[in-house]
Amino acid sequence: MQAWKDYQSQNKERFLDELLELLRIPSVSADSKYKGDVARCADAVKDHLLRAGCDTAEVCPTAGHPIVYGEKIVDPSLPTVLVYGHYDVQPADPLNLWHSGPFEPVIKDGKIYARGACDDKGQMYMHIKALETMVKTNSMPCNVKVMIEGEEEVGSVNLGKFLEDNKQKLKADIVLVSDTSMISMEHPSIESGLRGLAYMEVEVTGPNRDLHSGVYGGAVANPATILCKMIASLHDENNHITVAGFYDKVQELSDAERKAINNAPFDLAEYKAELGVKEDWGEKGYTTLERTGIRPTLEVNGIWGGYIGEGAKTVLPSKAYAKISMRLVPNQVSDEISDLFKKHFEAIAPDSVQVKVTAHHGGEPVVTPTDSAAYQAAAKAIRTTFGKEPIPTRGGGSIPIIALFERTLGLKTVLLGFGLDNDNIHSPNEKYDVANYYKGIETIPYFHKYFAESFGK
Ligand code: BES
Ligand code: MN
Ligand code: MN
Repeated sequence: MQAWKDYQSQNKERFLDELLELLRIPSVSADSKYKGDVARCADAVKDHLLRAGCDTAEVCPTAGHPIVYGEKIVDPSLPTVLVYGHYDVQPADPLNLWHSGPFEPVIKDGKIYARGACDDKGQMYMHIKALETMVKTNSMPCNVKVMIEGEEEVGSVNLGKFLEDNKQKLKADIVLVSDTSMISMEHPSIESGLRGLAYMEVEVTGPNRDLHSGVYGGAVANPATILCKMIASLHDENNHITVAGFYDKVQELSDAERKAINNAPFDLAEYKAELGVKEDWGEKGYTTLERTGIRPTLEVNGIWGGYIGEGAKTVLPSKAYAKISMRLVPNQVSDEISDLFKKHFEAIAPDSVQVKVTAHHGGEPVVTPTDSAAYQAAAKAIRTTFGKEPIPTRGGGSIPIIALFERTLGLKTVLLGFGLDNDNIHSPNEKYDVANYYKGIETIPYFHKYFAESFGK
């Protein structure tokens, strides 16, 4: 569409400036210190929706951070796309590892550096600019509803209720999300699934107080040592997870499906070099793409206890802790896996310590069928703007709300992500390529067009 192209090239600089402005707001959902900034960000997103041409837009309060909702209904007889994204971001620390301020976006070598540049402000904002393009050129192929939440990075704790309470308002034919990654600009791809999540915290208690490590050490179990041993035992010599019952419901893929996954371009030597690791690691019998896409995993996210301040303090800590997450695949169920973990962890604890296991937020895995009209519309949009057939991949990350879209609203999702795996999301120096940002804005209107056409409209 020439009109789209012209509008976008005429407004290119402004599209970028507006994103940078949004990135300056530290909308960190996990830290209550930023509550005001999160609210300010919600207001900004609402204003942008109105300026882009939504008929209505509102900031909807929740028990936590607000949800922003807007819509542009051109004709109720046309199909409706519900766009979902999130305006909240992960905490920026460790701050000292950033080359520039996390909330002072800079553009270097064609990349936008800032917390949220890719996850998800940059990707979410592409949709607002795509909507603006269609509205301002009078060429909306379908109705668009936009729901941008502020709690994705803390488990979307209040969005489930919002879906329940607003079933009518959110009525649509498909959910469209840009919050995932693709292989590269040369090898565009579409994620056809996401893993689920079960997130646990464990506390191991030894003696009733911290002890002098000379006076008592060697005679009383050290909870930090015990915790390390327990954690080490969670993988066997083949790096299979030892939690009893963990694999019971895991869906094994057919040889053909595995072959398709391994057909995606992937260079192990490059992968290792880019990460600075000499050797890869993982479950025996599976490739890297399988290990991160279709197999469940268990990872320690943090481990602490005892003295970690400056210098040395001789102490045998009373307690040690860890945060452990498990990525889940179909047909594992988050709550069931949390229970299995709890039972297992309690069972392997020696009598010298006591353990307390608690579950944090979780989420269910999803698979988005590649033979659906919606997926095909996304693939055609990619073909139109990239000139290449997108490769279907399975994403390793999790977006727990996607499973609820299906369960609560009966809606399937298309994951049309434009990030790259090395965009450093959740890490210092998060970035998003300016080219990917523009390519997303260019591609999204075509999804709407082809999706509407699949209804014969
Ligand atoms: N956008 C990510 C998920 C993601 C990243 C999916 C890359 C596919 C590729 C999302 O914001 C995220 O970080 N999700 C969390 C889970 C959430 C409950 C905190 C995750 O995957 O750890
Ligand atoms: Mn995200
Ligand atoms: Mn994230």
